[in-house]
Amino acid sequence: MLTLAFDVYGTLIDTRGVVIQLQHMIGEQAEQFSRCWRDKQLEYSFRRGLMQDYQPFSRCTLDALQYTDSLLGTGLSQAQQQDLMLAYTQLPAFTDAGPALMALQQAGHRLYAFSNGQADAVTKLLQQAGIHTYFEAVISVVDVRSFKPSPDVYQHFLHRSHSHRQHTWLISGNPFDITGARHAGWYAAWIQRDLTVPFDPWDQQPDLTLPGLEALVTGLPKR
Ligand code: LAC
Repeated sequence: MLTLAFDVYGTLIDTRGVVIQLQHMIGEQAEQFSRCWRDKQLEYSFRRGLMQDYQPFSRCTLDALQYTDSLLGTGLSQAQQQDLMLAYTQLPAFTDAGPALMALQQAGHRLYAFSNGQADAVTKLLQQAGIHTYFEAVISVVDVRSFKPSPDVYQHFLHRSHSHRQHTWLISGNPFDITGARHAGWYAAWIQRDLTVPFDPWDQQPDLTLPGLEALVTGLPKR
């Protein structure tokens, strides 16, 4: 039996789900806007972590939205920005998430959601995406007031889930999260959601690289 810590945004939940709304608002700039918004959101979380100036992840999301609007000159109204922030709370799950989670739970593993987001926000997100029932708990970085990939947040996860790192796998589509978990001594499976994106050439490499979540069912060791 393994402890499986699933990253949320970009692993279970598709942050590109906002592209349709963006297309209605700004047409062909939607794809570029969605990418920049996500990249800037993560950059803001890294910077706040380093500066030890914690704010909830939703603040990073809002600040990044406003930055992207300024950078691309898209002139979104307040109402449009509010609509996009609401859409971010209603993002869809990747289609492989439900079947994979069900099979992994049936195989006897302990499943957790482990996110930069606040626990209540992540719980609602997983509920509306229809995948919340598979998890024993949502464990958030909020309790340590820092963000991934700080070693403190991986330690916090082990403490909260009563797990040992030798039996714990991080499952993530985000390379920075994988290197963070490997650095903390965990096992890690990288879900390569975009096959054109290479892994970082760092010392910490994933133990498994898989094209989707369903490959975990046969790819993980039994214990
Ligand atoms: C999360 C971000 C890193 O869910 O995607 O923690």
